[in-house]
Amino acid sequence: MKITSIFLVAGILSFVVASCNNSGSNKSSDIKAGVTKTSWGEFDGKKVELFTLVNHKGDTVTITNYGGTITSFVVPDKNGNHSSIIIGFDSLKTYLQKPPYFGALIGRYANRIGGAQFTLNNNEYKLNPNDGKNTLHGGLKGFDKVVWDATIPSDSVPSIELNYVSKDGEEGFPGNLKVMVKYTLTDDHELKIEYNAETDKPTPINLTNHSYFNLSGRVTNSILNETLWIDADKYTPVDSTLIPTGEILDVKGTPFDFTSAKKIGVSIDSVKGGYDINYVLNRKDSTSLQKVAEVSDSISGRTMEVYTTQPGIQFYTGNFLDGKFTNRYGNPITQHSALCLETQHFPDSPNKPGFPSATLNPGEKFHQETVYKIKVND
Ligand code: BGC
Repeated sequence: MKITSIFLVAGILSFVVASCNNSGSNKSSDIKAGVTKTSWGEFDGKKVELFTLVNHKGDTVTITNYGGTITSFVVPDKNGNHSSIIIGFDSLKTYLQKPPYFGALIGRYANRIGGAQFTLNNNEYKLNPNDGKNTLHGGLKGFDKVVWDATIPSDSVPSIELNYVSKDGEEGFPGNLKVMVKYTLTDDHELKIEYNAETDKPTPINLTNHSYFNLSGRVTNSILNETLWIDADKYTPVDSTLIPTGEILDVKGTPFDFTSAKKIGVSIDSVKGGYDINYVLNRKDSTSLQKVAEVSDSISGRTMEVYTTQPGIQFYTGNFLDGKFTNRYGNPITQHSALCLETQHFPDSPNKPGFPSATLNPGEKFHQETVYKIKVND
């Protein structure tokens, strides 16, 4: 690394730390937007790096090319204090202990595929089961456990591009799949994720990001007190192993109804284990970026809007978080200390002819986008 870049990295890192320590007084004009990278170790013989994206508002996002994982998203609260609303860790070592997908980029097929198998064009494919007899989040070594090739596409716009080629047969999936994911931090407090892919054989594909959010910035505050709206009149009910039954049911009159904003904790006791369910989004069309969900937290005054081009969203209330992992401030990450809103194709679509197709064919270009936008009510 050149001496000038070392100073630049040191400068930005001290700015990030100062921000996290509540300064809140930087004027937008003082802040230089951009991306810096630091070395974060090695995995599978490849270099792992941590990228820090800073916008003109002083928001920061840190992302590692190990698993395309977002390790923090630091934004102000209503008092101008900065903290991360995404749970993450400060070392590669913790991510190598296989935490439950904190901030990770998930593929080749996010969520579950029942019985770890599917048939496509009369060919049967067997996958690696890793969740009982089912395949979850891509299998034993999904996209969250590989090192992506990272590039910084622009000097002025805080973004990074991650590339990965998933080989024909990897985890049992057909076709060489070329994947490019771009993360951008905008000056409107938005974290934008664009997913692109191409294949040389028909394959199921479902890409998402598995960030766990706590808008208050502290895992000691339960997300059951946060308020949620989801633009979905319908959901896909599941069996006891969380595989969809194939039905598409109305949320009306059930605890799954978030069509009017309500506190997450209000009806959670009527849902066995807590929320872990796919919503069928009320889409105007199948391609445009549409606002589909909104979460707010009264302690910090933060609201997060979710926009996506995808047909579904998994709402997960961190039901299986058991305190085994501790966040960077030493607090155990326990049940309901964070929530996920994973934009996606419906779980088990490869085995559910009634669900929107998740097949990508040679010659087609896969493209999906999701935006997490933070607003502060002051
Ligand atoms: C799934 C949960 C799972 C969690 C972590 C979510 O996407 O819906 O069932 O426990 O990921 O693996």
